[in-house]
This record gives sequence, C-alpha cells and structure tokens, in this order.
Amino acid sequence: MKAIVHVDKNWGIGRGNALMFRLPEDMKFFKQTTTGNVVVMGGNTLRSFPGGRPLKDRKNIVLSRAMEEREDCTVVRSEAQLFAAIKDSAGEVYVIGGESIYTLLLPYCEAALVTKVMADGGADAFFPNLDGDASFVLESRSAPVQTNGYTIEFCTYKNTCVRPLP
Ligand SMILES: NC(=O)c1ccc[n+]([C@@H]2O[C@H](COP(=O)([O-])OP(=O)(O)OC[C@H]3O[C@@H](n4cnc5c(N)ncnc54)[C@H](OP(=O)(O)O)[C@@H]3O)[C@@H](O)[C@H]2O)c1
Repeated sequence: MKAIVHVDKNWGIGRGNALMFRLPEDMKFFKQTTTGNVVVMGGNTLRSFPGGRPLKDRKNIVLSRAMEEREDCTVVRSEAQLFAAIKDSAGEVYVIGGESIYTLLLPYCEAALVTKVMADGGADAFFPNLDGDASFVLESRSAPVQTNGYTIEFCTYKNTCVRPLP
C-alpha cells in the first residue's frame, strides 16, 4: 500500500474541503498511477469530488460512518472493515486522502508518493511532515516541473518501518 498526495510548502493538502491548486501535470501522474488499481479515501474526500462521485476505472473504497451504502463504491464503517476490504482487493492499493485517512494509514504504507508544490496554499488540512519523521527517507526527487504557473517536484519517500496490516 502506498500513499499518494500533493502538498504545499507547509505540507498542506487542502482548504475548505477542496484542493488548493489545479495542477494538470500532477493530475496526469495521479491518474496514470492509480488507474486500474484500488483507491482508499475518507468520506470528506469523496464528497469533495465533482458530483460526489468516485473515480472512474478504479476500485474506490471509502471509509465513512455517515454515508449510505451505494453501488458505485465500497463503503466501509471501521478500520477493521477497511483492512478486510483491502485484503480482498486485487491490484495495488493507493491511499488518496484526506488528512484523517493519511494519518490513519501512513504507518501501513511502504511508500509515499509526494508531489511538492513550491507555494503556500493557506491550508486547513495537512499531511504528516515526512522530513521530520525518522521512519521515512526521501528515496527520489524529480527535477522541477512547471504546471499552471506552479513549480512542482515528484518525490518518493520510503517507509523503513512498515507496520503489517492487522
Ligand atoms: N492534496 C491532496 O493530494 C489531497 C488528497 C485528498 C484530499 N485532500 C484534502 O483533504 C481534506 C479532507 O481531509 P479530512 O481529514 O477532512 O477528510 P477525509 O480524511 O477525506 O475524510 C474524513 C472522514 O472519513 C471518515 N472516517 C475517518 N476515520 C474513520 C473511522 N475510523 N471509521 C469510519 N469513518 C472514518 C468520516 O467520514 P463520514 O463523515 O462520512 O462519516 C470522516 O468524516 C480536503 O481539503 C481535501 O481536499 C487533499
């Protein structure tokens, strides 16, 4: 399991239950990486998508207490149900947010694919600062890429102490 995220210079990920930037190059990377695989998200992230609809061509697993059962994605109500659903799923598993789900699942992720945006988005939701986390080491970092007026870098952090799924 891997986390995939874009963060601003303060490790901010969103504001007002929305993304802070429109980043076509990052969206392309996100789509290429996750398509055909499994994505895991929290209820707020699903509600933040256009029309509150899940992502196409991926198995969407949503952790939520409030949401009704639905046909277009797998809704799980607890961490135990989430871990069972992940174990039942074929394909690579990507944790796609938001703050609460990243915090919950990061210890179980073997890597975090972090797109760093060289800007301050005024966030109210954050990703853990992996540069201050001794478990995570920066494994690779791309050259800077320009997209929609922003400079971004694609970074991979490796988790050196992955917790096995219970
Ligand atoms: N920059 C990025 O790459 C990126 C990616 C994704 C999201 N984001 C941003 O992240 C922000 C949202 O973060 P967030 O923390 O508010 O929302 P979230 O993690 O997407 O969802 C939180 C919700 O998940 C459910 N939940 C959490 N823990 C649970 C548990 N143990 N059992 C059952 N359900 C549980 C609850 O859903 P219910 O309320 O439905 O019960 C809770 O309200 C937004 O600003 C979004 O745009 C950024």
